[in-house]
Amino acid sequence: MNDTTKTLSGPDLTQGVALSNVADGAMLLGHAHGEPALLVRRGDALFAIGAMCTHYGAPLADGLLVDDTVRCPWHHACFSLRTGEALRAPALDPVSCWHVEQRDGSAYVREKLERVGQPSAPAAAGRPGAVVIVGGGAAGNAAAEMLRREGYSGRITMLSADASVPCDRPNLSKGYLAGTAPAESNPLRSPDFYRASGIDVKLGARAATIDTASRHVQLVDGTRYAYDALLLATGAEPVRLEVPGSGLPHVHYLRTLADSRALVAKALASQRAVVIGASFIGLEVAASLRVRNIAVHVVAPDTVPMQRILGPDVGTFIRKLHEQHGVTFHLGTTAASIDERGVTLQNGEHLQADLVVVGIGVRPAISLAEQAGLAIDRGITVDEHLETSIPGIFAAGDIARWPDRLTGERIRVEHWVVAERQGQTAARNMLGRREQFDAVPFFWTEQYDFALAYVGHAERWDQAELDGQLDANTRDCTIIYRRGGKTLAVATVYRDLKSLRAEVEFERTIATTE
Ligand SMILES: Cc1cc2nc3c(=O)[nH]c(=O)nc-3n(C[C@H](O)[C@H](O)[C@H](O)COP(=O)(O)OP(=O)(O)OC[C@H]3O[C@@H](n4cnc5c(N)ncnc54)[C@H](O)[C@@H]3O)c2cc1C
Ligand code: FES
Repeated sequence: MNDTTKTLSGPDLTQGVALSNVADGAMLLGHAHGEPALLVRRGDALFAIGAMCTHYGAPLADGLLVDDTVRCPWHHACFSLRTGEALRAPALDPVSCWHVEQRDGSAYVREKLERVGQPSAPAAAGRPGAVVIVGGGAAGNAAAEMLRREGYSGRITMLSADASVPCDRPNLSKGYLAGTAPAESNPLRSPDFYRASGIDVKLGARAATIDTASRHVQLVDGTRYAYDALLLATGAEPVRLEVPGSGLPHVHYLRTLADSRALVAKALASQRAVVIGASFIGLEVAASLRVRNIAVHVVAPDTVPMQRILGPDVGTFIRKLHEQHGVTFHLGTTAASIDERGVTLQNGEHLQADLVVVGIGVRPAISLAEQAGLAIDRGITVDEHLETSIPGIFAAGDIARWPDRLTGERIRVEHWVVAERQGQTAARNMLGRREQFDAVPFFWTEQYDFALAYVGHAERWDQAELDGQLDANTRDCTIIYRRGGKTLAVATVYRDLKSLRAEVEFERTIATTE
């Protein structure tokens, strides 16, 4: 989904813009040296950076200025106005950054600033000699990259049970499955990138045990890797459906690129699908299969899809949205059995299907941590630095349960951006930074042309207040989730700035709880 099309609009910023046309706190979209560029004024300071987010190409001009950064409107990446650096995932690459000259009441965008990387520090300078990362997903990849960005020059080995390099997992249930995003959009990085960065990625490498005394990770094939610092980023595994016939070949799960490829191949030859589970994955899969014109039935025990997380208003809307696209729901029931021709529900009804997709939740992949004797609490227990109960071993992503600064509770979430940001913080802490993980959780979902962004974390809420409108005619709203009167999370539909402001508000709350 990376959009690399760069259409130019607005003024040529190299030709000069009258300062009177650039208000304090404004972002002026134009172009410089053949690239879309933003001219930004903060007080007396002027900055010029690339105008498109390096994640999926969102227009940063629609984002939010916060101090000397700009936040992306779509998935909340954060870029430095001073250097263009991607300070926060999900963007991993910087945007361009230019020198701005002020002369005779005008601002001129001049030459591109050279990127100043962190000097490569010798392994001996209080840094680990060898880092092993178990997991080649969002957190593992972000950690490996951040180690290099921070100038770490020691050995980095990424052990991944996957058959392919880290991939853009959210794409697997959306554009790639729908057939609207090409296969090339799946890998986060090319094998060449890892080679050039000196990140040794071992694929099909499943870790079996950790010897915490001798500091070794051992693979199922017996190969051993010594570590000085270890990051566990093993993610989550789909919960398996245990009904007769659930092992049949037309029953699919979706976690890995291989799963998605198998699903795409099967979808090409299918006409009728049953999706078991009205989770985010289940509903995104349903939407993508509808784009392929496959008849879709969704089966789930819920009475309103997504109600527990998003509340009745959004749940009812999502149900209607899918129905408008031709999906049939069978709610308040589950699958009793599966056969070659379809799925039998608990009420005896038989739904014909040549493809069955199960999306009934995931479990954190913590067996390695359990074996190693790490503290476990429905995930791996980590402290505010993402360090586990054994010093030198860190955990990030779907497996990590961390002390949430906002609620004071220990939480574990299954969000792409959180996993990447945790990987980045863990990387810095493996280098001795002692940085607290205090990012506000963020996730998004996309189904058809509907997108929802969610900041904060409300596992339990007692009030979901909708401001705006969410129906067939208008999609423009904010939903605030509260418990005991306290705002815990904010969901928005087509209100990107509100979502960004809610994130900043949560950050300020966290800052005052120091
Ligand atoms: C189809 C799909 C769509 C999604 N869409 C969204 C979305 O729109 N928005 C959102 O916020 N989140 C989304 N998510 C959730 C998001 O992808 C996860 O939260 C995120 O990937 C978690 O990152 P992670 O690094 O913890 O785990 P993962 O990305 O799952 O990576 C785990 C890695 O660990 C490896 N591994 C596991 N065990 C071992 C072992 N013993 N030895 C070696 N390697 C091992 C795996 O092979 C894998 O490489 C989606 C998830 C899926 C599956
Ligand atoms: S497009 Fe900017 S964060 Fe996704």
